[in-house]
Amino acid sequence: MPLFKRTLSEFLFRRFMLKHYSSNLLLEMNLEAKMDSLEYIKAHMVDAPFFEKHKQLVKYTLDNIGKDGLHLEFGVGRGKSMRWIAPEIDGTIHGFDSFEGIQEHWNGNPIGAFSQKRMPRVPNNVEFHVGYFDATLPDFLDSHSGPIAFLHVDCDLYSSTVTIFDALGERLQPGAIILFDEYYNFHRWQQHEFKAFQEFVRRSSVQYEYIAYSVTGQQVAVRILSNPTCA
Ligand SMILES: C[S@@+](CC[C@H](N)C(=O)[O-])C[C@H]1O[C@@H](n2cnc3c(N)ncnc32)[C@H](O)[C@@H]1O
Repeated sequence: MPLFKRTLSEFLFRRFMLKHYSSNLLLEMNLEAKMDSLEYIKAHMVDAPFFEKHKQLVKYTLDNIGKDGLHLEFGVGRGKSMRWIAPEIDGTIHGFDSFEGIQEHWNGNPIGAFSQKRMPRVPNNVEFHVGYFDATLPDFLDSHSGPIAFLHVDCDLYSSTVTIFDALGERLQPGAIILFDEYYNFHRWQQHEFKAFQEFVRRSSVQYEYIAYSVTGQQVAVRILSNPTCA
């Protein structure tokens, strides 16, 4: 092989194979998470429709919501998902966020990631509840009776998702739809929104079914089938 070619192939090997493949841990972390997610799909979600485009998954999920009940989003951030969801909702949708970002490290993101300097622009039917969930939820629940029709969980953290299900579990009537934004398909997904939901399900003897999942992202939607704790 001529010297130039050997040098070029060595350069390419070092530049791409070594730098971007063989020593890139993120790749292996993602591949491992992907394989674990695939096993989970095969065991639990085979019959549910899947989507490649996030927006189409959200639209399909919203088409499955019943008419009666509260509509809630936890984790409004920049308002991207709220700008998709709110126009599809009849009446008010409540958006909960401290806007201070995540309060723990999560999936490679530092504390404070996703904080917002100003309130996001959202449609007129959005009502904000600004503060940490454990501070805003008690007053909200006192002043808003009735069951939940739709819950969007986009707060990333296990602890925040635990707060949501501790407070709202008894309001999740049969037929309620929950859309998770970070359910699976990322490093250690089993320790975050997924874990908090599974703990709630076991604790409350809740039955549910998967109604949609993403094959390119982390989103999964479920429908509550029965909930003995729901009054
Ligand atoms: C990934 S961002 C949400 C992204 C948003 N849905 C969008 O489409 O732009 C996660 C948000 O959850 C909020 N959050 C997480 N835990 C929280 C808690 N316990 N109380 C209040 N806000 C929380 C953070 O402030 C952050 O804005």
